[in-house]
Amino acid sequence: MPGSGQLRSAGAGADGMSEMQSAAVPLMVENVSLSFGGVRVLTKVDLVVYGNGIVALVGPNGAGKTTLFNVICGALRPSQGEVYSFGTRLSGMPAEAVAEHGVYRTFQDLRLFGSLSVRENVCVGLGRSLRRRSIVEKVDDLLEELDLARWQDVRARDLAHGAAKLLTIARVLVHDPKVLLLDEPGAGMDIQSYEHLSGALKRRRDLPIVLVEHNLDTVRDLAGRVIFLDGGKVAADGPTEEILSRDDLAAIYFGSGGGSAVPEDVGEGGM
Ligand SMILES: Nc1ncnc2c1ncn2[C@@H]1O[C@H](COP(=O)(O)OP(=O)(O)OP(=O)(O)O)[C@@H](O)[C@H]1O
Ligand SMILES: [Mg+2]
Repeated sequence: MPGSGQLRSAGAGADGMSEMQSAAVPLMVENVSLSFGGVRVLTKVDLVVYGNGIVALVGPNGAGKTTLFNVICGALRPSQGEVYSFGTRLSGMPAEAVAEHGVYRTFQDLRLFGSLSVRENVCVGLGRSLRRRSIVEKVDDLLEELDLARWQDVRARDLAHGAAKLLTIARVLVHDPKVLLLDEPGAGMDIQSYEHLSGALKRRRDLPIVLVEHNLDTVRDLAGRVIFLDGGKVAADGPTEEILSRDDLAAIYFGSGGGSAVPEDVGEGGM
């Protein structure tokens, strides 16, 4: 479904693979496998982000979602397979080079600079571009948009959880990513913070976003398509309601379908 903002597995029917490696495709994961100490964690994962918009990557705890992000972003090298973004092969690149190609991610744990202020956290990595008025205005706008302006001089370690999660979003958006990978950005957030998060993401319809999320209300709110990962394999891929209404996937998700772990933070929006 090129151009429709969707992510789907590139397995069956994925003809035209060379075309998908073209400069127009935001993200392609091709046949990626990875093992930790002989234990297979990802097995032949194929998926493609064809265009803009939000696609949810869901699955039980331990399914391999974060590991897949680590592979895409260069923190882990797959034992086989490739990752491409806009025609560039990312696999084999160090994490900094992947970011230079416009692929940014947030972390499940916050990974903020605790002793730096909110504004300083956003500005880390901007370097000399901060001399430009347009960049300073962009930082100002992001702090405002994410309701962080009032905390801009507060040390990150002193923020409430919701504000700290929003700061992780500001820190990646300031780089004008071409592809954004968000690892449970709304986990544990209060409702007000979530409104700022969802608003910021919905305003960026022009940005391809892969969203790892356990709260299925959040998935329904934000994502038009869902990839379901289980045991390191793509188990399903399709429109959000179609995937979330499948009993077989619900059984996997809640641990009665073959030993998958029960998610810790599904909240009230579970399958
Ligand atoms: N550095 C590592 N060394 C060994 N095993 C690891 C490592 N990182 C992850 N794993 C294992 O890989 C599997 C996938 O973990 P991963 O963190 O990717 O799952 P996840 O889908 O992100 O889960 P969650 O929803 O709980 O965040 C798990 O079995 C995990 O224990
Ligand atoms: Mg994870």
